[in-house]
Amino acid sequence: DEQTSEKLVELAKRRGYFFQSSGAYGGVGGFYTFGPQGAALKGNVEDAWRDRFAVAEGNMEIDAPTIMPEPVFEASGHLDGFDDMLVECPECGESHRADHVVEDNTEYEDAESLPIPEVEEVIAEYELVCPSCGAGLADQAVETFNLMFATNIGPGDSQPGYLRPETAQGIFVEFPRLKEYARNQLPFGVTQIGRAYRNEISPRRSIIRTREFTQAELEYFVDPEEDEPDLEAVADVEVTLYPAAEQNAADGDEIETTIGEAVDEGIIGDEWVAYFLGVAKPWYDAVGVDMDRFRFRQHLSGERAHYAADCWDAESEIDGNWIEMAGFAYRSDYDLSKHAEYSEDRFTVFRQYDEPKTVERATVDPDMSYLGPEFGGAAQDVVDELESLAGRDRTAFESAAQDAAEESSGDGTEPRDSDSVEIELDGERHEIPVEKTGFAVEEQTEAGEHILPHVVEPSFGVDRLVYTVLHHAYAEDEVDGEERTYLALDPEVAPTFVGVFPLQNDDELESTADEIVADLRDVGLSVTYDDSGNIGRRYRRQDEVGTPFCVTVDYETLENEETTVTVRERDTTDQKRLSVSELPGIMAELRAG
Ligand code: GAP
Repeated sequence: DEQTSEKLVELAKRRGYFFQSSGAYGGVGGFYTFGPQGAALKGNVEDAWRDRFAVAEGNMEIDAPTIMPEPVFEASGHLDGFDDMLVECPECGESHRADHVVEDNTEYEDAESLPIPEVEEVIAEYELVCPSCGAGLADQAVETFNLMFATNIGPGDSQPGYLRPETAQGIFVEFPRLKEYARNQLPFGVTQIGRAYRNEISPRRSIIRTREFTQAELEYFVDPEEDEPDLEAVADVEVTLYPAAEQNAADGDEIETTIGEAVDEGIIGDEWVAYFLGVAKPWYDAVGVDMDRFRFRQHLSGERAHYAADCWDAESEIDGNWIEMAGFAYRSDYDLSKHAEYSEDRFTVFRQYDEPKTVERATVDPDMSYLGPEFGGAAQDVVDELESLAGRDRTAFESAAQDAAEESSGDGTEPRDSDSVEIELDGERHEIPVEKTGFAVEEQTEAGEHILPHVVEPSFGVDRLVYTVLHHAYAEDEVDGEERTYLALDPEVAPTFVGVFPLQNDDELESTADEIVADLRDVGLSVTYDDSGNIGRRYRRQDEVGTPFCVTVDYETLENEETTVTVRERDTTDQKRLSVSELPGIMAELRAG
C-alpha cells in the first residue's frame, strides 16, 4: 500500500535514517542527509558490497575525484547525450520530466524510450496536465535537458568542469595506469564507491531519485574473444527474469529460472552479464532485500543508455511499483575507444597470441622525398600521417592514408583510388601512386596485438538499495495488545546491533550496564545505551531503529550468583537470560551471522 512509503519516510526522519537537507533554509529538492542510523546502515551496505564485489572477486578499488574536466565528458558522450525530456508548465512555470508525466497518466510504461514528437503527441492526445497546478500541457514543446552539473575549475571560466554523473568515468580515464597495476593481464575489475550527481528535472520519492547519490560500481575489463566467466559458480542461482521479449509480448510474463538455464536458452545473451546477475542475487538476499519482491528486468532497446549494448536492471517492488536498484550493462569498448580517441593516452592491452604469427606490415620511407616541394604545407599532413603509420598493418595504413589525403588540403582533396593518394592543390590534381609514397610491405613475426578491452558493468545505486532494505524490513504487529512498528533489518547491516538498558535509575544497575556496553563495544559491536523512559518505550524505540537485540540489566542481574541479563530479540520479542560473561562472544557470533 502507498502508505508504507509515507510511514517509512516519517520513521526515517524521526529515528535518524534520512531527511531532506538544508531544512533550516527551506530545503531543496533532491538532496538528502543520512542521519546517524542511516549513515551507519549505508556504511554497512557499502562494506558488504565491497566484501563481495571487490575483495571476494579479487578486484581493485579506487577513489577518484567527483569533479572532472570537460574533455572527459565530451569523450564519454555525456555532454551530448545525457539528457532527459522536459516539459514546462505554461501556467505555473514548473518543469517536469515529460516521460514521467506520460507514464503516470497513460498506459505507456516506457515513455523514456519514445522520441520527442511522439511524447508531444501523447501529451496532446491524452490532454495531459501539469502535475503541480493542473494547467493543460497539450500545446507545450518538449525539450531535451542535459543532466550534468557544471562548474568552473579555478578562477574564471576558462576551464569548465562537471560533477561526474556516474563514478564509472573516474575508472575509465585512469585505465592506462590501472592496467599496469593489473600487470596488463585481462580480465580484471576495478570498483569504486562514491558520489554521482545528476541535475534531475523532478527529483521524487525521497532518496529514490535525488540529485546527489552514491553509486557502487564495478568496471570489469575483458578480452571479448578470449575471456569467459566462471558460469559454473552461479549456474544454480535461481532468478526471476523479465526479458525484453516478454515485456513486448501481449501476454508476456516474468520467467522463473536459473542463471545456467537462462544462458543455455539465450534469455541472457551475454555470459558476463549473466555471471554478475548470479553473483548479485544472493548478495541482495543477504543484505535484506525480500526475494519475493525482486527481479531482473532487461532494458527495451529504446531504453538503453548511449553506451550500453545490453542491460539488465535489478528491480525491487516498492508499494506496487518496480524501482531500478542497479544496472548490469555490457558497455563493449565504447568508453575506452572514446577516451583513446579524445585523449593522448593508450587504452589498449597487449593480447599475446598462442603462437607467434607472421603478418604483413606497412613501412614508410622516412625520407619522404617523393612528395617534393610542389605539394607545399598542405601535404605535410599526409607526410605526418604516413610517418605515424609506419609499423601498422596494411589495411589500417591504406585507410588512414586515404583519410589523411581527404583532410590534407584547404582546397579540398579527393579520396584516392585504391592504389594512389590524390591531392588537389591550387586547382591542380596530384596523384601519388602508393609505391611512390615509400610504402612497402614487410612480413613480420609478431607475438601478439594491442586490443581494446570490453567492459561489463554492474552499477549499484546505494541510496535506492538502502531505501529498499528499509522498506522491505518495515513491519507492524501487535505486542501485549499494543500496535508496534519495527524494522526487521538483517543483523549484518543493522546500524545499531544492541541496546543496553538499566531497568531503573539506580547506580548499581547503571554501572553494570556501563560495563556491559564497554565489553560489547570491545568486540566491535555498535551499541546504544538508553536509560530514559519506561522499559517498554525503550524497546519500542529500538524496534523502530531495527536494533536486533536489547539487553536489560535488572535486579536479578545483581542478586544472582552468576551475573545474568535479559536479552530480547527484536522480531519475536522473545526474552532469554544470558550470563554477562558469555554475552560479548554470543553477540559477536550473532552479528557475524
Ligand atoms: N555507470 C552506469 C550508470 O550510472 P545508471 O543506471 O544510470 O547507470 C546506476 O545508474 C544506478 O544508480 C541506478 O540503478 C540507480 O540505482 C542509481 N541512480 C541513478 N540515478 C539516480 C538518482 N537520480 N537518484 C538515486 N539513485 C540513482
